Amino acid sequence: MRLLTGIQPSGDLHIGNYFGSIKQMVEAQKNSETFAFIANYHAMSSGNGGERLAKLTMQAATDFLALGIDPTKSIFWVQSDVKEVLELYWILSGFTPMGLLERAHSYKDKTAKGIAANHSLFSYPVLMAADILLFSPDTVPVGKDQIQHVEIARDIAIKFNNEYGDVLKIPEFKIQEEVATVPGTDGQKMSKSYGNTVNIFGEEKTQLKTIKKIITQNVAMEDSKEYEGCNVYNMAKLFLSDKELLELQERYKRGGEGHGHFKLYLADVMWEYFGEFREKRNYFEANQNEVRAILDEGAKKAKEIALPLMEKIRSLTGIRY
Ligand code: ADP
Ligand code: TRP
Repeated sequence: MRLLTGIQPSGDLHIGNYFGSIKQMVEAQKNSETFAFIANYHAMSSGNGGERLAKLTMQAATDFLALGIDPTKSIFWVQSDVKEVLELYWILSGFTPMGLLERAHSYKDKTAKGIAANHSLFSYPVLMAADILLFSPDTVPVGKDQIQHVEIARDIAIKFNNEYGDVLKIPEFKIQEEVATVPGTDGQKMSKSYGNTVNIFGEEKTQLKTIKKIITQNVAMEDSKEYEGCNVYNMAKLFLSDKELLELQERYKRGGEGHGHFKLYLADVMWEYFGEFREKRNYFEANQNEVRAILDEGAKKAKEIALPLMEKIRSLTGIRY
């Protein structure tokens, strides 16, 4: 079973990203042939560019390797290192009705928010279709916001196949079961756009400061406290075993400790949970050449897989003459 996923390089990763998506991606490597790439061309359509984009790309590669993307199990590369995707993007543009793109939620949402539309934002789903179809995956695991894009890829592939025969594999999407929506420091869904994130990597002091900001109820120290619905408890749940969770529940019920104590406990538990990942991250951070080499090797493997299909498409479409 071949699984493909694209990751936008978008800066510091938070624990919502980890439990909602990265952890599953890492686990999928055990029993699937996993293709994962950093979607740097896609990041350009939301205004990232220049030195910042280059930095974000290396940061994403470093973070994902630290969190468990294993280049011996997965093919892991940067989108722009396999240029065939741009060639296929153009070819597929000819099989993409304008109406299909005009209906895309991501484009409609962004323009509704007043973000000036440029062509890359509009044609983004065609590039995503090329990303997918070039590698013939069985499944594309996506969050709910990306389902429509995979549907567009399917529509485009069907149109292409109607003209040229059974060439492109029609991908299935698999909705990534969010373990649960991870709450942010204010109890809403954790998201960069809400400014309520707890980041995975960073200084211990900064992390503690963020955790101290978690909104909690005002209850006297000696009184018993509700753990259900408590933002600190809900976050701690992600890191604790059943036994540890029961112990924490007892501490809430018993009284005598304030939410500040639970926050300190959460900070400790989280620091420990990501300890091994942090060490790996420090290693890759200090050895960026190694990260580069992994990405180069990944791009080479991805290209080898993409080329036979691309050659076939070039012949069929008359590009190869
Ligand atoms: P953000 O909302 O911070 O911009 P993204 O939209 O870049 O995060 O999310 C990247 C991935 O992380 C998606 O697959 C999404 O499902 C997952 N994710 C993000 N926030 C959460 C959350 N609070 N709980 C669970 N999963 C999340
Ligand atoms: N559009 C996806 C996102 O914003 C990233 C992406 C680009 C992708 N190409 C892809 C995801 C191909 C899956 C398959 O998250």
